[in-house]
Amino acid sequence: MSNEQKTLYERLGGFDGIRKISEDVWTEHTSNPAVKARYLDSDAEEVTRLVTEFVCWGTGGPQEYTGKDMKEAHRTMNINATEFMAVVDDISTALKKNDVGAQETSELLGLLFSLKDEVMHL
Ligand code: HEM
Repeated sequence: MSNEQKTLYERLGGFDGIRKISEDVWTEHTSNPAVKARYLDSDAEEVTRLVTEFVCWGTGGPQEYTGKDMKEAHRTMNINATEFMAVVDDISTALKKNDVGAQETSELLGLLFSLKDEVMHL
């Protein structure tokens, strides 16, 4: 199958690739002064598991996402634009660390930006 016919899930390395990226995203968030306080009461394994599932499901993988929807997950957090950008920046860093290509990076960041109104100012 040519690369253009593969799902984003496959091009990100399937479950294993996305799990590794999600672990690196957690490491970035919890060392980023702009957002790390947000994750102080969170369970690293549980959030990493759910983020992995969410990305697998959203990029065409066979997994079912068992977490809350984006509005429900971020409700009452009142996340602002600076924090949203910090999280996107952390994800870009994790993608670079995992040698994800420009095309896949732009597709994934596009998906994240499409969710902006579902996570901000709730
Ligand atoms: C499009 C961007 C984002 C996506 C796709 C996303 C995705 C997720 C997912 C899948 C979960 C787990 C949901 C669950 O507990 O059932 C989660 C939890 C969480 N998110 Fe986000 N998120 C985004 C942006 C943000 C931003 C900007 C912040 C603020 C810094 C944030 C802070 C958190 C926190 C603190 C939790 C953990 C809540 C807990 O421990 O129960 N997220 N996110």
